[in-house]
Amino acid sequence: MDALKNILNKVSARELSVPYPSKKEMDTIYRAALRAPDHAWLRPSSFIEVKDKGLEKLSSIFKKYAEEKNFKAEIIKKYKQAPFRAPMILILINTYKEHPKVPAIEQKLSTAASAQNIMLALNAMNYSSIWRTGKLAFNKDVQSELGLNDNQEILGYLYIGTETGKKKKVPEHDLDDFVSYL
Ligand SMILES: Cc1cc2nc3c(=O)[nH]c(=O)nc-3n(C[C@H](O)[C@H](O)[C@H](O)COP(=O)(O)O)c2cc1C
Repeated sequence: MDALKNILNKVSARELSVPYPSKKEMDTIYRAALRAPDHAWLRPSSFIEVKDKGLEKLSSIFKKYAEEKNFKAEIIKKYKQAPFRAPMILILINTYKEHPKVPAIEQKLSTAASAQNIMLALNAMNYSSIWRTGKLAFNKDVQSELGLNDNQEILGYLYIGTETGKKKKVPEHDLDDFVSYL
């Protein structure tokens, strides 16, 4: 796909189903992710790929969290179901490393840029995705269940697959609202 067309036409998708990317396609996607700008090459981004039985494991983790917080039954059910909204999920992990010139925010921005690279690479391969956060991101309990260290944080979940709903229209923007010139 033409590179600019790919960027200009990418929209997020809420209804996702199989097929999802193959192992070979995911390897390309991870390489795209790792080309995000990264001050001092600290490599803050990493990813947990969740599919098949992994979705059930993630569902159990979300359910356990909701139960321990004494959420209402309908919320527990919602969290338990959350991973099944797509056939594949990438958990976006940021690992903070202390550095004299690179504050934590820059490291998170780098991981955010890697997420955008992933979504664009997916779009170029005719897959779709959506970035979700909610209470399950930046969540110490879920992070600990996933075996993350104290310097690691979940910046979000990329839900991935093939769009089954109607593709959203790309919104129009008045550039004057967004751009000024000095
Ligand atoms: C950091 C971040 C967190 C987000 N969290 C959610 C979320 O929890 N639920 C949701 O419906 N959309 C969330 N979104 C928005 C969607 O990913 C998406 O950008 C939005 O639906 C607009 O669609 P578009 O990307 O096609 O313009 C989040 C976006 C970002 C950047």
